[in-house]
Amino acid sequence: MPQRVIDAIVDHTVLEAKIGGYEAEAAAAERFAKVYKSAAMLLGASPHEIALIENATRAWDMAFYSIEFKQGDRILTSMAEYASNVIAFLHVKDRGVSVEVVPNDEHGQLSVPALESMLDSRVRLIAVSHMPTNGGLVQPAAEIGKLASQNGSLFLLDACQTAGQIPLDVEKIRCDFLSATSRKYLRGPRGAGFLYVRSDLIEKLVPPLLDLHAATWATDSKFVIREDAKRFENWEKNYANHLGMGVAIDLALEIGVERIWHQIQLQAERLRDRLSQIARVRVTDLGTVRGGIVTFDKEGVAPNVIVNELHDRSINTLTSSFNSTRFDMKARNLTQLVRASVHCFTTDDEIEQLCQSVEEITAIPHSAELSSARSQPRS
Ligand SMILES: Cc1ncc(COP(=O)(O)O)c(C=O)c1O
Repeated sequence: MPQRVIDAIVDHTVLEAKIGGYEAEAAAAERFAKVYKSAAMLLGASPHEIALIENATRAWDMAFYSIEFKQGDRILTSMAEYASNVIAFLHVKDRGVSVEVVPNDEHGQLSVPALESMLDSRVRLIAVSHMPTNGGLVQPAAEIGKLASQNGSLFLLDACQTAGQIPLDVEKIRCDFLSATSRKYLRGPRGAGFLYVRSDLIEKLVPPLLDLHAATWATDSKFVIREDAKRFENWEKNYANHLGMGVAIDLALEIGVERIWHQIQLQAERLRDRLSQIARVRVTDLGTVRGGIVTFDKEGVAPNVIVNELHDRSINTLTSSFNSTRFDMKARNLTQLVRASVHCFTTDDEIEQLCQSVEEITAIPHSAELSSARSQPRS
């Protein structure tokens, strides 16, 4: 997190301690309202189309579980879909909904012609992760959005990994919903995220959970749901983190997301090229357009051993596991990968350091003990 983001979070927390939580909220009201404007600006949306939610997963859930699926509805998704999203699809399957995976094209991205051929009036939802958790693949969101809107299907874009990395314009993408997090490419704090819901859809959707912020208790026996996207929020929130997220978004806008995206692509390709030169290393990213998430493995060395060894050299990477993107990992016969992420500020030296370390790491006899001793966080 940049210092400005940290300051926003710490300052608000200190203010809460000094004058009280409600009082600090009132004092920050203007800055808090600006967070909606900033998120809207990032997406080319309007502030009333934005809901501030505690993370990307819950933001996605609030959109997904608002859709009233009925018997015979079809959900189309990608090979590289994220586990939590697929779990939600499977969760509604017992309502007679089918979940179908659109095949990839020859580049490993969702095949747009295949999607087109699968469309009919029963396709209620197309839900796709813009960039999967297990690689730099960028799905052709605008092409998917065009087909979805022509077909009258809803389009839910999981932009958790692309918000702050790739320029996003909900009008161009033609998505109905977009979910995002603060903690990844936006460089904001954990525990903050947001949801975009297209204006003319908001009032047609009843969120799966309602409280006194999302709705008003109007008479003894009636409630009225609010008209803006805040109907997808809940009342109590982490104001400090959301203020921090607002500052992180402003910073991304100040630098320019186009510039960020250009530099990330350069550095990610530099890392992929360099890794590919290392004996027994295989770069596993798919797609014609690839972003800052770089995945690889090395023959003869378990990915979690590489991650642990890199960690000992103060290089943070993660493993990407089979279950986080099961359809794709299974199809490619992969079980675990090393995931490194570059941002626009990642230097050539840092890339070289990582690659030299990967070069040096070879199978070590006690690798099994190491891997069981150190647990890896999920992606
Ligand atoms: C594609 C994708 N969607 C959603 C999420 C969930 O984000 P969060 O944990 O911030 O809710 C992740 C996290 O890695 C992800 O990779």
